[in-house]
Amino acid sequence: MPDLEPLKKEAALRAVALVESGMRVGLGTGSTAKYAIEEIGRRVQSGALTRIVGVATSEASDALAREVGLTVEPLDPRPLDIAIDGADEIAPNLDLIKGLGGALLREKLTEMQSRRLIIIADHSKLVTQIGEKAPLPVEIVRFGFLSTVERLRQIVPGGRLRQPGAQPYVTDNGNYIYDAQLRPGSDIAALERELKGTLGVVETGLFLGLAERAFVASPDGVQELT
Ligand code: 5RP
Repeated sequence: MPDLEPLKKEAALRAVALVESGMRVGLGTGSTAKYAIEEIGRRVQSGALTRIVGVATSEASDALAREVGLTVEPLDPRPLDIAIDGADEIAPNLDLIKGLGGALLREKLTEMQSRRLIIIADHSKLVTQIGEKAPLPVEIVRFGFLSTVERLRQIVPGGRLRQPGAQPYVTDNGNYIYDAQLRPGSDIAALERELKGTLGVVETGLFLGLAERAFVASPDGVQELT
């Protein structure tokens, strides 16, 4: 496997080139979005960008943004001009799986409100169909989580509660995550509706029809998908 870090950075720089002074910017979460936040910070520090306000999609991105000198505000009802974020799977029509980094709920809340959602990734995230490589993260409330997991298993049989150690993984919102195994080729719009209608489910990592474009970097260069 080649070193993906330079590729992630290259994709991030292409997206940051779309950020203009005065914009309210959705700041994604993860190892690729980190490069975008750092670059926006660099441009603000150098004076190339002014009056930028960031809205962070996780506590980690909030902390990083402040560290690199960005003004960060909470999400409010005003639209964002642009949001830049990574993804775990990118289908040819730009449907996405997100949330392996655990920030899916704040990402969806923030990015739904953005005029433009720009995805940045290395080529390992490209799939021909959603569900091909990554599990689908589903954020669930802690109360009665075993019952919610049972309900989810009726809908998507494969999967497990995210539990990296002795305790389940806890999101920034105090919830748990169930990582579902999808069958590629399933009707994901119908699945999204069914999951969202399931008691105990807060949000899913399916981002359907939200992304405007993706910059996907490979050793051959950066591909722009629209
Ligand atoms: C976090 C996310 C991330 O954008 C996604 O997991 C990609 O992360 P990385 O750039 O580290 O591969 O959805 O909730």
